[in-house]
Amino acid sequence: MIEIKNVKKSFGTKEVLKGVNAVFEKGKINIIIGASGSGKTVLQKCMVGLLKIDSGEILFDGRDFVTMSSEDKKLLRQQLGMLFQGAALFDSMTVEQNVMFPLDMFTDWERKEKLDRVNFVLERVDLKGSNSKRPDELSGGMKKRVGIARAIVLKPKYLFVDEPNSGLDPRTSRLIDTLIHDITKENNITTVVNSHDMNSVMEIGENILYLDQGRNGWSGTSKDVLFSKHENLNNFIFASEFFRDARDMRILEVKGLIEDERDMEKILREGLKSSGSDPSS
Ligand SMILES: Nc1ncnc2c1ncn2[C@@H]1O[C@H](COP(=O)(O)OP(=O)(O)O)[C@@H](O)[C@H]1O
Ligand SMILES: [Mg+2]
Repeated sequence: MIEIKNVKKSFGTKEVLKGVNAVFEKGKINIIIGASGSGKTVLQKCMVGLLKIDSGEILFDGRDFVTMSSEDKKLLRQQLGMLFQGAALFDSMTVEQNVMFPLDMFTDWERKEKLDRVNFVLERVDLKGSNSKRPDELSGGMKKRVGIARAIVLKPKYLFVDEPNSGLDPRTSRLIDTLIHDITKENNITTVVNSHDMNSVMEIGENILYLDQGRNGWSGTSKDVLFSKHENLNNFIFASEFFRDARDMRILEVKGLIEDERDMEKILREGLKSSGSDPSS
């Protein structure tokens, strides 16, 4: 579990995080959503120690990252897996070298041991035998999977993923989402995903934090997110007509207007009658 308490971060006079509070649960997909520029990436960078917060606390299973000794920080860093936007692979290195990199950095294992682990995680992300390929030979989805393999090679307790679906087609996006979900469950990882993709939120999101211009806008489960009364959150979600429709269907279902044998005409007629212009009223 990771707890964020009143975290603030400015760049010069620009306040980006204005006192964020959050709890990210173990073994779950915790998703941070919010408009572009709302502070998602900055918050993740603060959590992994790439940026220094101005004030507040970041607790990893009760351990305060900010105040711990540099020795403890080094140990904690090894428990953090990160998948950056764009996968951020080293172009001059092979897939195998990219995935082995954290093992080279943080372990004194024998080469054979490292290679076994690399092959294990490559197989897990369905890239068995791609060891000698270079990043520019890989598709966007494959690059992400190499990035995931590298992020989990040290068996992290905490996994941070920034915009896993950026630049991917919808089908590949769902495959990556499913992979992140399954790895989280298999290893009981505390996973924090930044996303502006509502499909991911509904597909794999368990705990949702909506960042509203550097503040907590709303938090809850993916079951509740479609029904929130938070205006900015609604504007964010229902920018997509599909999600408006999904919500309306769900409301009709809750009201008992949709039965197993669905009569679409009746549903639409009664739905419109009972809900007026605001279906949530
Ligand atoms: N290193 C930096 N220096 C100055 N401003 C920054 C820096 N990093 C991010 N910002 C600003 O912080 C705000 C939040 O950015 P970011 O966390 O990347 O948003 P998001 O990931 O939600 O799209 C933006 O206005 C961005 O310009
Ligand atoms: Mg971002």
